[in-house]
Amino acid sequence: MSTLGSTVNVKIVEVGPRDGLQNETRVLTIEQRVKLINMLSASGLREIEAGSFVSPKWVPQMQGTTEVLAKIDRVPHVNYPVLIPNLKGLEVALLSADYAPINSIAIFTAASERFCQKNINCSIDESLNRFRDLIPLAIARNIPVRGYLSCITACPYEGRIGSKAVIRVAKALMELGCYEISLGDTIGVARPGEINQLLKDFESEGLSASLALHCHDTYGQALANIYAALERGIRTFDSAVAGLGGCPYAQGSSGNVSTEDVLYLMDGCGMNTGVNLNQVIEAGRYICQELNRNNQSKVANATRGGNP
Ligand code: HMG
Ligand code: MG
Repeated sequence: MSTLGSTVNVKIVEVGPRDGLQNETRVLTIEQRVKLINMLSASGLREIEAGSFVSPKWVPQMQGTTEVLAKIDRVPHVNYPVLIPNLKGLEVALLSADYAPINSIAIFTAASERFCQKNINCSIDESLNRFRDLIPLAIARNIPVRGYLSCITACPYEGRIGSKAVIRVAKALMELGCYEISLGDTIGVARPGEINQLLKDFESEGLSASLALHCHDTYGQALANIYAALERGIRTFDSAVAGLGGCPYAQGSSGNVSTEDVLYLMDGCGMNTGVNLNQVIEAGRYICQELNRNNQSKVANATRGGNP
């Protein structure tokens, strides 16, 4: 517990407008997506994933990300990363860069072969080969590249995934130029002991800097996992407003840990996020209404009648 309790900055990467909406049966309009991002931007969040440039045949919910990027009210010092699977995705994204600027991108692969195939229709090594062309093109345009690594402890098709497989792919992503690797518990089954061990294994390889944690909350372990990662020095966490989210190619996985609950946790640990919890709660209530779904944030639900 040594590092917790003092004022330490923690970065929250809000993935609701991407991870949150990509799995919803109701496809939102551009205006609804823009309004959500604007509400989140006003809360002090510094990283808001705005959408993705994947195949519209695979994920129709993310169609129109260019229009979203063109219409949002950009707040200075806020990044609006987008998810890119391949060179084609980057080319499409850059086509409209003069009126829909791309200031940061995220690529994604997995530690599990079968999930990688289901999600992006190629092997892990093929995905890394795709990134070999893509990343230099982004970096040449001063666009920083984040790397997502899914299935860090378990895969919906292969079961348990060991640290060795995770570290191999993380190393490759770092060597290719990713400034940060977001470790994804894609199906939300990891527990603090497993997260702790994985992070220890990264530390023994000298690779713990520049890691982030991306927790889905299927088994209700996400906050415990985040706390375990905080204790191991991780300072960047992905979360989604109202606990939205899920991957269409990871059956049975539920939403991301909610941003509201992470903010409440961080505040209680004396960690500084610079984010206004009430404004995120408002954004969560708005989007749940538009999606006609229940809010998955315990904090948002508990404070319905006023804050504690
Ligand atoms: P494919 O069908 O193998 O692609 O899909 P292809 O290269 O064979 O091309 C087929 C057609 O798609 C061609 O068009 C291409 O031009 C087009 P056609 O000639 O038939 O008219 N195409 C594209 N169109 C638009 N944008 C593109 C693109 N690429 C090819 N980028 C592909 C391969 C990767 C595109 C597909 O598998 C795909 O889009 N997958 C995305 C899946 C996805 O979005 N999953 C959810 C996000 S990942 C996630 O949620 C996990 C994460 O949150 C972390 C965690 O939780 O662990 C990040
Ligand atoms: Mg995810």
